[in-house]
Parts: sequence; C-alpha cells; structure tokens
Amino acid sequence: MPIAAIYGPDDFEKSVRQPSRAPVQTSSGTRQTALPRPSLEWTPEVERATAHLYERVRSVITAVEWPLMAPTIKAINELKTQRDAVILAHNYQTPEIFHCVADIKGDSLQLAVEATKVKASTIIQCGVHFMAETSKILNPDKRVLIPDSRAGCSLASSITGADVRLLRERFPGVPVVAYVNTSADVKAEVDICCTSSNAVAVVESLNAPAVIFLPDQYLAKYVASNSDVKIIAWKGACEVHERFTGNELRAYREADPSVQIIAHPECPPDVLAEADFTGSTAHMINWVRQNQKQRIVMITECSMADNVKAELPDVEIVRPCNLCPHMKRITLANILDSLLTLREEVTIDPPVADKARRSVERMINLKN
Ligand code: 13P
Ligand code: SF4
Repeated sequence: MPIAAIYGPDDFEKSVRQPSRAPVQTSSGTRQTALPRPSLEWTPEVERATAHLYERVRSVITAVEWPLMAPTIKAINELKTQRDAVILAHNYQTPEIFHCVADIKGDSLQLAVEATKVKASTIIQCGVHFMAETSKILNPDKRVLIPDSRAGCSLASSITGADVRLLRERFPGVPVVAYVNTSADVKAEVDICCTSSNAVAVVESLNAPAVIFLPDQYLAKYVASNSDVKIIAWKGACEVHERFTGNELRAYREADPSVQIIAHPECPPDVLAEADFTGSTAHMINWVRQNQKQRIVMITECSMADNVKAELPDVEIVRPCNLCPHMKRITLANILDSLLTLREEVTIDPPVADKARRSVERMINLKN
C-alpha cells in the first residue's frame, strides 16, 4: 500500500536542527601513544609481501597504481597487529581498502552483528560516521576510530532526536522504527532499528497496525509496498540512490534486453519498478554470486561494483557511477594515520549510548 503520511522538519514548529554527528573527541593522551611514520617506499620487499593482495584486486587496480598503494597497505596490515585493531569495512569502500586491509566486511546489518563479536581492543570503522557510532554503541568499552569524522550521510543528517520526540507527540502510541542510517541520538529515541536487509521483517515484528518509519522516505515506500502495515514516513533520502531514475534503467534495458538490473531499496519507486531484483548491498552481492553468467546493471554506489568485479572478474557489470562522497572520505592514507595516532575516536554520551543499544540489540536479536 502507499505510505500513509510523510513528515519533515518543516512540519514541526518546534523542530530544532542539530548536526547529526556526535561530537568527536580525540582521547586524552593519544599524542603520547603516536607511533613513528613507517617508510612508504615501493621496494622489492613490499612487492613480494603484497603480491597475494594484488591478486585480489588486479582486475580493478592497474599495475601502475599498485606501487602507490602497496606500501601503505603493508604498513596498515602490520600496524593492526601492533595496535590490537580490526578494520570493519562497508561494501562501499574502495577495493584497496575492502580487499586488502579490511578484516570484517559487509552491509550495515553484517557490520553491526560482527561488531558485537570483536575481540580486539580497537575498531577502525571504514564507512560513515553512523556506522562507527553503531560499533561504539555495541562496544562501549572499546576504542572505536573513524579515519575521517566528516564522513556523514544525507539520511543521518535529515533527522534529530528532537524530531523523533515531536513525531511521538503527534502519533502517541505508534511504534518508531529507525533505519540504522541515523545518529545515536535518534537511535536512543526509537523502539527498534532496522537495515535495508531486514526492514520489512522489523516493521512486521512489531505487530502494530501503523508504524513510524524513518528517515528514508524511499525505503519507507519499499516497506509499505511489501507489507500491510500503515507506514508514516520521514522526508529523508540518500543523496546517492535518489539520483537514479526509471528512465535511466529503461535505457539500459532498451540497449540490451538481456541485461539484469539489481537495485538498492534506497532508490525511488520508479527505479525499483524497473529492477529485476531489489536488496541490501549484501543481498545484491549474493545475487550476483548466484547469477554470475549474466550481464548486470548495478544500481547502487560505484565502489561496490568494483569490489564485486575484483571477486568475480568474469561477470560483466554495467555501473552507472554514483559515488557516495562521505564513504570516499576514507582512504588508505587516513586509515594509516588512524592507526599511528589513534584518531579520530568516536564518543557517545553513555546514557544516550545505553538507550540506543536497546534499539540496535532488539534488531540484532530479532535476526537471530
Ligand atoms: P546496506 O549496506 O545496509 O544495504 O546500506 C547501504 C547504505 O547506503 C549504507 O550507507
Ligand atoms: Fe548515506 Fe547514501 Fe552515502 Fe549510504 S550511500 S552513506 S545512505 S549518503
């Protein structure tokens, strides 16, 4: 069914806009613990030590580019041991990060679940700020670092905890589901979180006739079209996925009727109507693994197509290239800096983190 209503900050007189990012602080004493910068020269030893990693990415990184990356990759992998750190990387990270330095990789749900199992004392989050916050929410006693704290998200910045409180006043008793692409402040105000992997299941688990679903209006529409629950949505959108159009997809199909189109549910409905398959980034990757003989148009962030191509070089992937500028703030250079200086540390007010943890854990426990 169509979504029942859609709200935004302009609908509430009292709404106060706040930055979505929690204040990021550098932990005291990090300067004392900074390590000396290693040599980043391309040497025969670096070439030998990284040859197995180059094999993973040779279909998407040229032999000319590799000597510029390999010394940093080697340094990062050595420093991870020294720092007792693990690297969590989202599917939208570039191939040299995703395939060559990440320990745990996946979509938002997989990263949240895996974050609960981390043994190392430090987590380096290669993704955007709300993902680092989720790791910190689930690991309050660990050090969680994000290589560039400016890595935001248009969805997370579209809504605040104050907005959620105003929605609750307007719809008393209606449960609230927040997409994980929200700040800790928002997660603390809602009943349960969801990701694009489990949004329909989470909404239906509440056994309520109506649910407030925020902040992605397109994911809300996708949920509404796959459920009988009445959905009250928020006017947020992903700046990467909202740029795709149904016309664009029709043009791909006209050019090659045999093409298979797979799309992320953050896309507008006219885009999803043209797609052969809709799913989270992990579901899209699994779909490609299972259908790898076909020519595929991947309607999502560009780097994911590179990462799949690196894994499955024989699959022909057509990639309409929409880059997420926030995801691209994370680079090999600033991951190395994070490991050397232990910056930038993500901190969340403990009472906010405690409330947000309930919403995230409720989602994780639902999955298991
Ligand atoms: P998933 O990886 O959970 O599908 O989310 C996509 C996304 O946009 C994350 O920022
Ligand atoms: Fe946010 Fe969209 Fe970038 Fe994901 S791709 S981090 S939803 S702006």
